[in-house]
Amino acid sequence: MLAPHVIEIDEDLNMNYKHFSPLSRRAFLGTGAGFALTASAPAWPARGSDIREFRIVAGHGRARLVGGRHPETAVWAYNGTVPGPEIRARQGERLRVAVENRLDEETTVHWHGVRVPNAMDGVPHLTQKPIAPGETFVYEFDVPDAGTYWYHPHQRGSEQVGRGLSGPLIVEERTAIQVDRDIVWVLDDWRLLEDAQISPDFGNMMDASHNGRVGNTVTVNGRIPETFAVRSGERIRLRLINTANARIFGLEFAGHRPLVVAYDGQPVESHEPKGGRVVLGPAMRADVLLDMTGKPGDRFGVTDTFYDGLAYRLLDFVYEQEPLRQRPLDTPVALAANTMPEPNLKAAERHEVTFGGGMMGGMMGGGMMGGGMMGGGMMGGGMMGGMMGGGRIDPRGMMHNGIWTINGVSATGHVHDPFLNLKLGGSSVLVLHNNTAWHHPIHLHGHSFRVIGRNGNPTRYREWQDTVLLAPRERAEIAFVADNPGDWMFHCHILEHQAAGMMGVIRVI
Ligand code: C2O
Ligand code: CU
Repeated sequence: MLAPHVIEIDEDLNMNYKHFSPLSRRAFLGTGAGFALTASAPAWPARGSDIREFRIVAGHGRARLVGGRHPETAVWAYNGTVPGPEIRARQGERLRVAVENRLDEETTVHWHGVRVPNAMDGVPHLTQKPIAPGETFVYEFDVPDAGTYWYHPHQRGSEQVGRGLSGPLIVEERTAIQVDRDIVWVLDDWRLLEDAQISPDFGNMMDASHNGRVGNTVTVNGRIPETFAVRSGERIRLRLINTANARIFGLEFAGHRPLVVAYDGQPVESHEPKGGRVVLGPAMRADVLLDMTGKPGDRFGVTDTFYDGLAYRLLDFVYEQEPLRQRPLDTPVALAANTMPEPNLKAAERHEVTFGGGMMGGMMGGGMMGGGMMGGGMMGGGMMGGMMGGGRIDPRGMMHNGIWTINGVSATGHVHDPFLNLKLGGSSVLVLHNNTAWHHPIHLHGHSFRVIGRNGNPTRYREWQDTVLLAPRERAEIAFVADNPGDWMFHCHILEHQAAGMMGVIRVI
C-alpha cells in the first residue's frame, strides 16, 4: 500500500533522529538569560487608547533550529522567526492584528482558544475568504479571557504549521498572581532530514492513517535547548504550548512538583497532575507554577515520557549560585475565573459524537508510530489491519480524505453542513466517543467547555478546555453554553487527521 519513497524517507528519518535527538547531546546551548523567550521578536506593538495593534507577516525564513555545525532550516515563519512573535495583551483589551501574506499560497490565521466573533476566527471559506499571496487581512477582536493561547494558519494546516507558522498569544490577568518569572515555552516537533531541512513528505498516507506527522526534533521556543537557568527559591509561571502537528508531550520535572493552575488558558483548581506528569496533546496548553526548591549548583532533568520506551530529556534546570530567596513563596496561586457562562447540566441537550476510522491495527493499539522513531519492522507490518473509511492513495502516495470520520462523515474541506445545530444561549453536553485505536485531541472553536466526565466517571476538576485529549477507545463528556453565534469548526488537532476528514461544523444560531 505504501509508495516506496515513503519508506525511504522514513528510514532516513530513523537515522536522522540520532543526529537531532534530544537524547544525544545537542549542539545548541541555550543557557541562562540568553535562553530565548519569544517576546523579543518585533511585532510592532503599538499601544492605542484601548486597541493593541500588531502586524505579522507570513513568509519564508531561516531558523537555527538544530544549531552547531548544522545548517539553518528553511521555514515558513511569522515575521521571520519560529515561533512567531509573542502577541501579549491585557484581559478585556481589543486586539487588531494585520496579517500580510508573503507566502506563495493562501493562508489565514486562527486565534486558538480565544473566544472571538465568528468572522475573526480565521477558517478559510467558512468564516473568511483566505488571504491571497500579497494581500493583508486585518483581524480585530476583544480578548474576553485571560490565559495562554496561540495562533496558527487554518489553511493547509499540516504543512503551514508543520513548516513553522505558529506563535504564542498571551492575555494577562487584570490582577496577576505573584511569580518571579513568567516564562513561555512553545514546544514544537519537526521532521528534519539529515541536512536539517524539513522533510517534504507532508500529506502521506502513513501519517494520515496512524498518529500523524510525529517528527524527530523537538524544540523549545525554536531551539534545541540544553539547559534552563533557575534560582533557588524562585517561583516560575511556566506557560507550556504544544504547537506540534501530532506529537503528544508528557513532561516530568525531576525533583520538583509542578502545580497546574490553568489548562488551555482557563484557570483550574491548582493541583499536581497525575504522576507529576503534564500531558499536552497538540494545541493544548498548561500554565504550571514551579517553586524552585533545589540548591545552588543543582541540576534536574525535564523529561518527556509520553510514549512508552521513547522517553528523552527535553532540557535540564540548572541552579545558579545565587539563591533568590531562602523559602518558597506562600502567596495565593489561584487565578481569577474567566468569563465563560456556566452550563446548566439539568437543562442541557445531550448529543453523541463518535470519532471513527484510521488503521485498526491491534498490534499498534494506539501506540507510538511514525516520525524518526519508527523502526523498519513496524513499517513492514504496520499496514495490516485494514483501512476503515475508504482512504485512497494517489500514484504519488499522497493521502486523500476519507480516513477519519465524525458521526460517520469524513470532511472534505472546511465548509460542511453542520453535524450539530445548537440553540444560541442553550447548554449542551457532548458525549465524545473515540472509537479508534488512536489518541485524538479534539478542539472546538469559539467556545471553551468543561470536561465533566471520562469513561462514565465525573472528572475531579471539571476543567475548562478548548481541546480535549481522547485516549484510544475513551469516552469523554464536555459541557458548555453555546453563547457564540456562527459556524464553528470541531476537529482533531492532529493536523493530518484533520486533513484526512476528522473535522466537522457545529452551528450555533
Ligand atoms: Cu488550533 Cu481549528 O485550530
Ligand atoms: Cu486525531
